[in-house]
Amino acid sequence: MSVTSDAKPGEGLTTTQSPFIENAKKSGRTFIDQPYGLYSEANQETWRRLYARIRPYWEKYSNPKFMQGVENLMLDPDRIPRLEDVNDKLCALTAFKAKAVAGYVPAYIFFDCIRQRIFPTTITIRDGKVLDYLPEPDIFHDVAGHVPMHTDTRFADVLVRFGEVAREAALRAQAMSEGEERLHLVESNIKALARFFWFTVEFGLMKNPGSEWGVCAYGSGLLSSCGELEYCVTSPKVQRYPAQLEWVINQYFEIDHYQPLLFVVDSFDHLFGMVDELALWLHGGKLDNVSPGEPAINEDDLKSFLEAEIAE
Ligand SMILES: [Fe+2]
Repeated sequence: MSVTSDAKPGEGLTTTQSPFIENAKKSGRTFIDQPYGLYSEANQETWRRLYARIRPYWEKYSNPKFMQGVENLMLDPDRIPRLEDVNDKLCALTAFKAKAVAGYVPAYIFFDCIRQRIFPTTITIRDGKVLDYLPEPDIFHDVAGHVPMHTDTRFADVLVRFGEVAREAALRAQAMSEGEERLHLVESNIKALARFFWFTVEFGLMKNPGSEWGVCAYGSGLLSSCGELEYCVTSPKVQRYPAQLEWVINQYFEIDHYQPLLFVVDSFDHLFGMVDELALWLHGGKLDNVSPGEPAINEDDLKSFLEAEIAE
């Protein structure tokens, strides 16, 4: 176990309440170890309750590749996973690895990790007193929601290709002369990439002609929330449209309520084709002036693209 000297075993790794994480952030560390001994019994109980609650929803509403991933990773219903155990299984399948982080990772660094098959992974877990309130991602969202999808070779290819597009965007921006115009362009490019990621990797639906509803979920924001997982597939209030790149990159989104509008892909081959198209649009300038609105792109995200050291 790697912990700071004043951290006490079992003191807890609860979202927004962990001294270990606060200390890591203060010291400027992004990548950290998972100090497994710090999880409290209350943290383990939160995992147990979240897993037990969502499992029947996964069986009804998730993409079959996701369920296969849960089985392949042998996620323990009763204990918070150790990332090294997850990685033993994951790495053998797609060479992806979950790597613990202390908190927010600026956009370029996050996307470039994905390009290298590294998934920046939150290790804290939400407060069990408010099971559905998620002020920021936690290990349940990241490991139970995202990582099972990373066991699928085609989906893993999609992520890597997406990371390559982000790298191409950074190279293109860095080749331009400094000034307001470049800032506007980079902000627009990041917005387009963030919207694409949001409406696919985080909140994507896929056609599922065999099911009663005709769609299933593969996006991790859906797969880590039992309320929204059922809602996104079954509710007549959700608008579900075939995924179209021009719409996805221009559609704003809000993160604090169930999504009213979702996009449906045919397959992961279809999604891979969309990422290829995204690259073409980037180079053709079609991501340089997307519609304004959410998400807001912060200073760190902009800097991460403009100041990244990128080997050609
Ligand atoms: Fe996520």
